[in-house]
Amino acid sequence: MAFHITKAVIPAAGLGTRFLPATKAMPKEMLPVVDKPAIQYVVEEAVAAGLNDVLMITGRNKNALENHFDRMTELEATLEKKGDVDRLQNVQYSNDLADMHYVRQGDPLGLGHAVLRASMHVGHEPFAVLLGDDLIDARDVLLARMLEEQSTRNASVIALMEVDPALTHMYGIATVEATDDDDVVRIKGLVEKPVPGTAASNLAIIGRYVLQPDVFGVLASTKPGKGGEIQLTDALQTMATQNIAGGVFGVIFRGRRYDTGDRLDYIKSIVQLAVERDDLGADLRPWLKQFAATLD
Ligand code: UTP
Repeated sequence: MAFHITKAVIPAAGLGTRFLPATKAMPKEMLPVVDKPAIQYVVEEAVAAGLNDVLMITGRNKNALENHFDRMTELEATLEKKGDVDRLQNVQYSNDLADMHYVRQGDPLGLGHAVLRASMHVGHEPFAVLLGDDLIDARDVLLARMLEEQSTRNASVIALMEVDPALTHMYGIATVEATDDDDVVRIKGLVEKPVPGTAASNLAIIGRYVLQPDVFGVLASTKPGKGGEIQLTDALQTMATQNIAGGVFGVIFRGRRYDTGDRLDYIKSIVQLAVERDDLGADLRPWLKQFAATLD
């Protein structure tokens, strides 16, 4: 029977070493993308797909994450006194965006380990995982499509994107088999960050998953893999090859994605989103053109 999914898990406990020293005392998920922290885009995406119950996996420095989704009484009172309605609405928007829950990971032993920390909260229901540093453009549909596939196939579903074959060593890479749906494939195998030149395809896993609860049992017995971390990719590889709980399918995403955990992609994301903004684009576009002309 199809299950109505309401729970989203957002792992945000990584060390963010690529962004040091910015992430020394602040999670990378709090880095602003234009004027909103990356994590707010991710929570908004979950809510837009009907997932109002959000469990965030946090690590050290969790305070900033919790505070962002809570009231800031003093700040709100000051804005109210000033009659600054727009800013007040902006500040208050994230207070009641979702039903927020938090659990600590303890040591950051890998994405798989972070997801396993959600087992008590999730229980025996399928659930979504959204990586806190991976943004999907709100104008492009991904999560809703994945929820639909999870429900019709009663299996786990991951998101895939075609990447430059020269960059496959930076991603989890899938071996796939076609299905009757143009944008859906069956996963035959998964490898986390394959050695350059050995990848089975250029279909890379991106940070959205809709998983059967059976993944928790598999994760519990998954040994540390690449980088000594417990890898979610390794657990999904087991589920795909042993056909556990319906196996694993992939939805191929062809929309806009922003990887804010990578410095170069982070800069590109901000520029891309800012030029399209009503309040900033008109001034930024001509400046950007002028600046680009000076680069030669
Ligand atoms: P990354 O591998 O991109 O995060 O994990 P990282 O380890 O923080 O980054 P670098 O490489 O050191 O810069 C993808 C997502 O999984 C979370 C991260 O917070 C990020 O959102 N994660 C990763 C955890 O929650 N726990 C972990 O142990 C590892």
